[in-house]
Amino acid sequence: MATKATKKRKNMAAALTDSQKTLHKNLEFTATEQYKLLRANLTFTLPKQEGCTIIGVTSSMRGEGKSTTAVNLSYVLAEAGNKVLLIDGDLRIPSIAKKLRIESSPGLTDCLKDSDAKQFRTFESSHISNWHILPAGSLPPNPSELLGSQRMESVLKTLSGCYDYIVVDLPPVNLVSDALAISKYIHGMLLVVREDYTEKKELEHCIRQLELSSVNVLGCVMNESKNGKSSYRRYKYKRYYKYYRYSSYT
Ligand SMILES: Nc1ncnc2c1ncn2[C@@H]1O[C@H](COP(=O)(O)OP(=O)(O)OP(=O)(O)O)[C@@H](O)[C@H]1O
Ligand SMILES: [Mg+2]
Repeated sequence: MATKATKKRKNMAAALTDSQKTLHKNLEFTATEQYKLLRANLTFTLPKQEGCTIIGVTSSMRGEGKSTTAVNLSYVLAEAGNKVLLIDGDLRIPSIAKKLRIESSPGLTDCLKDSDAKQFRTFESSHISNWHILPAGSLPPNPSELLGSQRMESVLKTLSGCYDYIVVDLPPVNLVSDALAISKYIHGMLLVVREDYTEKKELEHCIRQLELSSVNVLGCVMNESKNGKSSYRRYKYKRYYKYYRYSSYT
């Protein structure tokens, strides 16, 4: 017979949205382990350097799991004792604030607007004190120009002084130039590929774009892979794609 506590836990799990189930604290053991493996692999792949490492997360098309990967990667990096900042660099359809249930501003665009600011307000996660979040802020008319601007470089420089890692969640390469625009200010880019979802042609086009811009691609993250024994496959793909507003990328 199920105890009261078991019933309560089951009800709580049922109350989580599909999106919440793929994030940090709510992940199954096998999924958490895969992110820890990614963390370990990154430490070998990243260029050796002093100070903060800035990692971008992008993909070829929408809905491949960039933001989910950025959240979970930044979380496991913080869990290892690093001081980590997660930035929502998708200034068109931001999602980090919603996923983590925090205010969406002040955010990155506010940092970019205030050229005199020496300090930026970030949100401290309620899970771990060394995991900070900078949401996108108010949506600008010119995201690509902002992300590639000198002001962006100086914002990242200032923030780098406070963190070991900065993880930037970015829009897809094949739809807008934002990820390529900011790439000169980051140390390496992770490319998310979603199994049974990403189209080969799109991925090839994306890799060509990244190569042309001489982006340091650290590797691919295979999201929702069915290859491993992972019970992570339990989370079925449910046509989330159709809910995204393509029109934002006119
Ligand atoms: N491994 C997974 N298993 C199940 N659901 C997943 C997985 N990864 C991501 N999702 C879900 O797929 C949806 C899209 O994921 P996410 O927002 O991370 O993608 P994205 O690439 O950032 O999308 P966008 O291009 O719109 O920014 C979300 O609802 C997320 O919860
Ligand atoms: Mg996203």
